[in-house]
Amino acid sequence: MNLILFGPPGAGKGTQGALLAERLGIPRIATGDLLREALRQGTPLGQQARAYMDAGDLVPDDVILGMVREALDSEAARRGAIFDGFPRTLAQAEALDDLLRAMGRDVDAVLVLEVPDDVIVKRLSGRRTCSRCSAVYNIYFDPPRTADACDRCGGVLVARPDDNEETVRRRLEVFREQTEPVLAHYQRTGRPVIRVAGDRPVPEVQAALEHALDAVARKTVA
Ligand code: AP5
Repeated sequence: MNLILFGPPGAGKGTQGALLAERLGIPRIATGDLLREALRQGTPLGQQARAYMDAGDLVPDDVILGMVREALDSEAARRGAIFDGFPRTLAQAEALDDLLRAMGRDVDAVLVLEVPDDVIVKRLSGRRTCSRCSAVYNIYFDPPRTADACDRCGGVLVARPDDNEETVRRRLEVFREQTEPVLAHYQRTGRPVIRVAGDRPVPEVQAALEHALDAVARKTVA
C-alpha cells in the first residue's frame, strides 16, 4: 500500500504513522525526520534546509524530491510506504504520482488528520523528543515517567526549535496556504481522501485510521 498521512503540524502524523508502519510492515517516509537527520549530520542538504525550517517555511521542492526518491529506492519500500509530511505542494504531489507510476504503483489513499488550531498549539508547545533515540512525548498528554528523561533509553528530552509559538503559527499559515490545496489534486484524480478526527486519544485515532484502511482494502479487492 502507498498511503499519504496528511494534516497540519502537530496533527499526529508521526505518532500515527509509526503505528501504521508497524501494523502494515511498510516504512514511514517522513520528510521532516529526514531533514532533521541531515541537519544533525551537518550535510550540505541539512545546511540548505535549516533557515527554511527555523522560519516554518517549506524547504524547496527539488531538495525534498531528491530525498524521497532515495527513500523509495530502498529495499524496505518495495511493498509500499507511508508518506508523512509529504507531499506539501502540488509540484511534490505530481512528482510523487510520476515516481510511483514508474514503479507500477499508485497512491491508494490519503488519510487526513483534522485537529483544531488551539489544540495544535498546545500539543506542539508540550512536545519533547529524545535526543538519543527520537522517541516522542508530550508533557501534557503523554509525559515521560521522569521529567526530561526518555523512558526507553534515558536520553535527554528536548523541545524542537520550530515548536515555539511564533513558528507554529507560521507553519499553520503555510499549511493552509500551500499544503491544504494539494487535497484537491487527489480528489480530482479519484484517489480516496478520508478525513479522520485527530482530536481524540491516540488509540481512538489509530482505530479510526485502521477502520478507514480496511474499507479502502475491501474496495481494492472488490
Ligand atoms: P515536519 O517534521 O513534517 O513537521 P509537521 O508537519 O509540522 O508535523 P509535526 O512533526 O510537527 O507533527 P505531527 O503531525 O507529526 O505530530 P506528532 O505525531 O509529532 O516538518 C518540519 C519542517 O520541515 C517544515 O516546517 C518544513 O520546513 C520542512 N519540511 C518537512 N517536509 C517538507 C516537505 N514535504 N516540503 C517542504 N518542506 C518540508 O504529534 C505532535 C505532539 O502531539 C507530540 O508531542 C505527540 O505526543 C502529541 N500527540 C500526537 N497525537 C496525539 C493525540 N491523539 N492526543 C494528544 N497528543 C497527541
